[in-house]
Amino acid sequence: MLCLGIESSCDETGLALVRDGKLIAEKLASQVDVHAVFGGVVPEIASREHLRVLPVLLAELLLEQSLTAKDLDVVSVARGPGLQGCLLMGLNFAKGLVFSTGAKLVGVNHLWAHLTAAGLEQELQFPSLGLLVSGGHTHIYYIESPLKFTLLGRTLDDAAGEAFDKTAKSLNLPYPGGKLVDDFGRRGIVDKKMFPVPYINNDNLDFSFSGLKTAVATYVNSHPELRLGSMGIPESNSEPHEIVTARNNMLASFNYVVGRKLEVKIERALKRNSDVKSLIVAGGVAANSVVRKVMGKVAKRFSIPLVLPSLHLCTDNGAMIAYAGYLMASSGCRHDLNLEAIPRGRVVPCDWICD
Ligand code: KG4
Ligand code: ZN
Repeated sequence: MLCLGIESSCDETGLALVRDGKLIAEKLASQVDVHAVFGGVVPEIASREHLRVLPVLLAELLLEQSLTAKDLDVVSVARGPGLQGCLLMGLNFAKGLVFSTGAKLVGVNHLWAHLTAAGLEQELQFPSLGLLVSGGHTHIYYIESPLKFTLLGRTLDDAAGEAFDKTAKSLNLPYPGGKLVDDFGRRGIVDKKMFPVPYINNDNLDFSFSGLKTAVATYVNSHPELRLGSMGIPESNSEPHEIVTARNNMLASFNYVVGRKLEVKIERALKRNSDVKSLIVAGGVAANSVVRKVMGKVAKRFSIPLVLPSLHLCTDNGAMIAYAGYLMASSGCRHDLNLEAIPRGRVVPCDWICD
């Protein structure tokens, strides 16, 4: 079964081919540079970019594999949640392909696709506990199978990735700043008392990152020297050593708090769901070095394997969509041309048709 995956939910256009569950080729066109000057993703520009690059990437992908669109058995597309205009570009492109080739159409939940992406690299065991930490979401799921996810907890305000991006922005680091915060923080020393760890002394599995955002903003306001003069990456030798060190220490302390918050809630979820066979951590923030380390320790304490996709599968990509589509199609599930795009904030329905 040859499955094409199409990702266009935000600012990455990703296409990939999965044959019988194995990734054979992929293409990714990132728009990060286009949006960086605006300090965030501009939806209208993002949609136009998807429209521009989708046909080019598909032509390259097929040509390099000596394939044509007629060889596709399944066209799998991220149908939400995401930016509506961006999703519609991917969806309409997928529908056009299906209409002209007779391939099956599968609409994939982008969040679930993040969590099953590691299946391209290792066998996944179910039931599993899934932590999705991305730019728009922080969700804990009980995953019974690739087609059955139960939401156990979620963020009540900002997502973990947003907390990273806003921290970066407060220092005038370019968008999306998560990776830079991670890189600089790794060079710093943690001060556990610098920031509070809010919203952990309760009984639930939800998250709140807004208190941390305020604490960071207050700290930066009282230490304005930590801000870069203009948006950009500091050049190591053009700044006084003490400022670089103080900024790195602040980011190490911020990173510690995010890791600690995730640790408390995941431990609680594992205690309540003792039947799970593994812990899957996915999404852009799963690329974070502290998150990876902390989750490794938690999984060890519960004697279950930690499943982390490799770094290139953590951020948005077409391979995870192709694989999720393959999992659905091989279970006999598909959509028809009425498939709808689901914007952020709406629950993605389980409205597939099973043969
Ligand atoms: O999953 P993703 O690629 O896109 C969404 O679906 O949101 O996640 C993007 C998020 C951004 O907020 C980015 O700053 C964050 O992932 N991110 C990181 C790291 N790499 C990417 N955050 C912390 N540490 C990283 N190493
Ligand atoms: Zn994502």
